[in-house]
Amino acid sequence: MRRILVLSLMAASLSAHAREPANSRVVELSEGERAHLKQEMRALLTGAQAILDALARRDMRGVTRHAGKLGSSMTRQVERGNFCNRLPVDFLLTGQSVHQGFDRIARDARAIGRPSHTLNQLAATLNHCVRCHATYRVSVRRESP
Ligand code: HEC
Repeated sequence: MRRILVLSLMAASLSAHAREPANSRVVELSEGERAHLKQEMRALLTGAQAILDALARRDMRGVTRHAGKLGSSMTRQVERGNFCNRLPVDFLLTGQSVHQGFDRIARDARAIGRPSHTLNQLAATLNHCVRCHATYRVSVRRESP
């Protein structure tokens, strides 16, 4: 039931995106929340680079270690920032897809250990980054006095 709800939410937001100009959805954040988001983003980029670097050396343990850091455990750290409840559902779902993608990369690198499989998973996961960047931009909310 929950899965159906999530899927239909995703379908609804995808069809909404099809009609929208690029980068048109605004996420309102405070200056501090924006700094927090950017910090997470930079960690994602650094981690994705580290995964590729390990992959190029066929170091599947390294892939597991770096991907593990970007998985769902990262979301729990971010939730401590406590602004998730004000973010759009689709924004959160896309973020979740990224973390779940890295969970799968870590798990399969350990269990299957095939670089071409990991590479496909990485390409699919990075697609979520691209989709979110193409859809959202941040606007800084003035703090109430
Ligand atoms: C759910 C939406 C979303 C997802 C998913 C997402 N990003 Fe972002 N990212 C953003 C937004 C919004 C900004 C712009 C932040 C701003 O301008 O304050 C951003 C900015 C960035 C920046 C610039 C940070 C800076 O210091 O200015 C990098 C780098 C980045 N993202 C990397 C990634 C990577 C790599 C992934 C995937 C592994 C990813 N992002 C996934 C929403 C997302």
